[in-house]
Amino acid sequence: MTTITLTDGKFASAKVDALVLASTTGEDGAVLAEGTDLPKNTQAYVTEHLSTTGASGKADEVVKLAGVPGVGAKLVLVVGTGKADASVPDPAERYRRAAGAGVRALTGKDSAVFALGSSEYAGAVAEGVLLGGYAFQTFLGEGKAAKAKAPLASAQIHAKGRHKGDVAGRAAVVADAVRYARDLVNTPPNVLYPETFAQSVSNRAKGSKVSLEVWDADKLQSEGCGGILGVGQGSGRPPRLVTMTYKPRGAKAHLALVGKGITFDSGGLCIKPGTGMVTMKCDMAGAAAVAASVLALAELKVPVAVTGYLCLAENMTGDLAQRPGDIVTMRGGRTVEIINTDAEGRLVMADGIALASEQKPDAIVDIATLTGACVIALGNRTMGVMANDDALRERVTEAANQVGESAWGMPLPEEIRGSMDSPVADLKHTGDRAGGMMVAAKFLEEFVGKNDAGTAIDWSHIDIAGPAFNEKSAWGYTPTGGTGSGVRALIALAESYA
Ligand code: BES
Ligand code: MN
Ligand code: ZN
Repeated sequence: MTTITLTDGKFASAKVDALVLASTTGEDGAVLAEGTDLPKNTQAYVTEHLSTTGASGKADEVVKLAGVPGVGAKLVLVVGTGKADASVPDPAERYRRAAGAGVRALTGKDSAVFALGSSEYAGAVAEGVLLGGYAFQTFLGEGKAAKAKAPLASAQIHAKGRHKGDVAGRAAVVADAVRYARDLVNTPPNVLYPETFAQSVSNRAKGSKVSLEVWDADKLQSEGCGGILGVGQGSGRPPRLVTMTYKPRGAKAHLALVGKGITFDSGGLCIKPGTGMVTMKCDMAGAAAVAASVLALAELKVPVAVTGYLCLAENMTGDLAQRPGDIVTMRGGRTVEIINTDAEGRLVMADGIALASEQKPDAIVDIATLTGACVIALGNRTMGVMANDDALRERVTEAANQVGESAWGMPLPEEIRGSMDSPVADLKHTGDRAGGMMVAAKFLEEFVGKNDAGTAIDWSHIDIAGPAFNEKSAWGYTPTGGTGSGVRALIALAESYA
């Protein structure tokens, strides 16, 4: 992994492999971003080169120059940050992405200075470097592993002046959490299944301030978690529920986080077509985000109590697999008629939300790769946010957008509930096809409990079916495969209660 240091010294003369600069899209193409003090002759040379080569300054553009006057580095990279527009209004996020694109162009190199802009973005640049330098190479064979280039070894982030707090340290904790979530998602489903997922989290929690409780199938049975058990019963690899507790002294609030952890979603008996199944190792990305963020919050010593619930099961077609027509009894006693075994996520999440409710936290936030409908509605890069409380929906959406995770609020209209009436059980778990993302959320809402005042606990649901897994090529600091979607949003959300 790339090591990061902050520097406020003279960077232009630094004897490193590469100097990374930022450009923006001006009237006539790329112009150097403000906030980097380059020697005059260097500035003039780079500006001239950008103009001559017709660089645009758009996001992910990387212009390479060698032998730049006044520069100690052998290579200068000018990375586009695009235009400040409605799609990415936050300059920090544009620099985070540029840092990611820059570091991806520097694999195999030893050292680089990133001088992208003013020091207020140093933390974002550091995150972009650490996230963009991610590569999942655990399963490469010897020959291929030997040929694979290592990520940039060391990066100095140029940041003039003083910073608030330990900018590099914080970026390292946050990026490490995102990278852990990516590793979990990328690990193939024959290796990562409920038992090994729980093991991985407990290994990582050793020595931390997070305590763990793992329920196996027998315990889930005696605790009445019929949703998780029903989904998991078609697999030879039985389900687990992991409860993670972080309870700092003097906590200002209590937040419960519930994550969908389907380690592989075949669809069950309502089996998916092969093409829809190939990426379904990503169906535990919500649980990965919860696991990674709870551990990071403890490491950051955020003064908020957080309980994480990882609802882990494999949705398979074994001879005991759940059938359409089955009626299962969920945590809390409600009965659900099974309609489509591929709508398994809401079943495991319902048990998790019911369990979380029993602790009467100030808010419950769940995160799940829940519906294909979310991908249709919001695309591959935006998470859908729903809630039983407008203020909480806003809070979650804002927290995510503030740290560069695109999030969009969606409604939960009352009339949706009717389509889940069942003649034989308390409710069924699917309803109208229209508004499928909201139908799934409406089902979850049924399992949110009441607080001491007798009203519903504030609850919000995040659908990350789009952004959790990048099937296309890398962009910014987002690699192909697991993205770690939700980790930074959940950390920011918890911090908003501190
Ligand atoms: N895990 C899928 C949702 C999904 C789709 C995640 C694409 C990531 C990318 C979920 O379990 C599912 O299969 N949902 C069904 C629900 C339907 C049967 C009501 C869907 O969206 O088609
Ligand atoms: Mn499914
Ligand atoms: Zn699923």
